[in-house]
Amino acid sequence: MNTISAVGVVGSGTMGRGIAESALRAGMQVVLYDSSQDALSAARKHIEGNLQRSVVKEQLTAQQASDHLASLKTAGELGAFSGCQLAIEAVPEILEVKLAVLASLAEHVAGTAIIASNTSSIPVTRLAQGVANRDRFLGVHFFNPVPRMPLVEVVRTLHSSDASVAVARDFVESGLGKTPVIIEDRPGFVVNALLIPFLLAAARMLDSGYAEAETIDTSMRLGCGHPMGPLTLADFIGLDVVCAAADAMHGETHDPALVVPNNLRRLVEAGHFGAKTGRGFLAHETSE
Ligand SMILES: NC(=O)c1ccc[n+]([C@@H]2O[C@H](COP(=O)([O-])OP(=O)(O)OC[C@H]3O[C@@H](n4cnc5c(N)ncnc54)[C@H](O)[C@@H]3O)[C@@H](O)[C@H]2O)c1
Repeated sequence: MNTISAVGVVGSGTMGRGIAESALRAGMQVVLYDSSQDALSAARKHIEGNLQRSVVKEQLTAQQASDHLASLKTAGELGAFSGCQLAIEAVPEILEVKLAVLASLAEHVAGTAIIASNTSSIPVTRLAQGVANRDRFLGVHFFNPVPRMPLVEVVRTLHSSDASVAVARDFVESGLGKTPVIIEDRPGFVVNALLIPFLLAAARMLDSGYAEAETIDTSMRLGCGHPMGPLTLADFIGLDVVCAAADAMHGETHDPALVVPNNLRRLVEAGHFGAKTGRGFLAHETSE
């Protein structure tokens, strides 16, 4: 049974605002903190827009949408997290930034609160050094877009207590209505350990002239039933995110399948991150 009714989220970017929205829709109180006031305002606007769209689609009543929005508190300091039973960090994938945020979080939440990281590729055990009570620290790896993606990888470290893992599992399952998988702290966990080498193989195939982008994507869509081809998927994940995940996993494993091919590296160096910038392996219309 879920015991979490108040969640703090640090970082209100793509993932943080999605985690916040999912918790709000599940009836929880949410405190959202970001070092950027602009990011916080954008996150509130984004969540409000999504809730309103659900009202138009008659998935929520206007009253429910307004109640959910009223349960969202945006905060300019971490002191606002004192009443949260769970705090999740979703700040950029930079070890030093995450360690500083986690150390600060540990000072501001109650001694009984669970602290979690949404890291994609930094070993959760390495992040645990930022937290005083390591038994209450673990990974909760959500997928983008969070409100729509049903899986959460709950990552336990050698320090995580069984009780903390059970609280996180119940939060995901009976709290958010998503599906948790409990896994050990391995590079890429399960999903990225399988997905990233696949995306890099598609990029390598394109880079070597083995096949055109459209041929690669169409083949995997129609031949394997994938909803989108690997190059389109990489563009939607963000080529910068794919590259960073590959580099981090390669740093841990030295697996040649995780070496970033030149075409992908050059696109990222040129600032062509995929759908969010309008150009990646393919051309995209930018929305926001
Ligand atoms: N984007 C994805 O598809 C995805 C999927 C799963 C996991 N993740 C992981 O989630 C985390 C966040 O990724 P994202 O895509 O949401 O990033 P993002 O860049 O969209 O958002 C990060 C937010 O953190 C804020 N921030 C930066 N430094 C901060 C600090 N010191 N204190 C408070 N806020 C700070 C930024 O202002 C920004 O709003 C990363 O660890 C990433 O690896 C991302």
